Amino acid sequence: MYTGLQHAHSALAYLVLAGVGISLLSALAGLFGGKTFTDKNRKLGLLGLIPTHLQWVIGLILYFVSPLGINNASGAAMKDATSRLYFLEHPLMMVLAVVLITIGYSKAKRQVGTTRGFRTMTIFYALGLVLILSRIPWNAWPGN
Ligand code: HEM
Repeated sequence: MYTGLQHAHSALAYLVLAGVGISLLSALAGLFGGKTFTDKNRKLGLLGLIPTHLQWVIGLILYFVSPLGINNASGAAMKDATSRLYFLEHPLMMVLAVVLITIGYSKAKRQVGTTRGFRTMTIFYALGLVLILSRIPWNAWPGN
C-alpha cells in the first residue's frame, strides 16, 4: 500500500502543478482583460481545486504510513532539514495551500457575473502555488 500511495502522490503532483497553473493563468487573463467572471471561468478554477484536494487526501494517508511522516517526528528529526521538511514543513504548507485554494474557489464561485472573481482567484491560487512550490521536496522529485 505504501509504494502505491507514494507513486500516486508523486504522479498527482504533476496534475496539481498543471491544474493550479492553468487556473491561475486563466484568472490572470480575465483580470487583465477586464472581463466578467462567468461560470466557465469558475469551472477552470476546478482544474486546480480537484487535483489539489485529491492530493491532500493521499498525502494525509501517506503521512501515517510513510517512514518519513509521523513515524519520523522527533526532536532529533527537527534538527535535520530533510526530515523536518517531510514530517513538518511539507504537510503544514501543503495543507495551508489547499485551504487557500479552497477559499479562493469558494469566494470566486459567489462572484460569477461580476469582474471580481478573477482577482479573488488570482490572489488565492497564486499564494497557494507559491506555498506548494516552496515546500515540494525538489531533491527527490520528479526523480531521475
Ligand atoms: C498540494 C499538495 C501536495 C503536493 C503537490 C505534494 C507533493 C509531494 C511530492 C512531489 C512528494 C515527493 C514524492 C516523491 O518522492 O516522488 C511528496 C512527498 C510526501 N508528501 Fe506530499 N504533497 C502535497 C500534500 C501533502 C500533504 C497534505 C501531506 C500530509 C498531510 C503530504 C505528505 C507527504 C509525505 C509524508 C511525503 C513523503 C512520502 C514518502 O516518500 O515516503 N503531502 N509530496
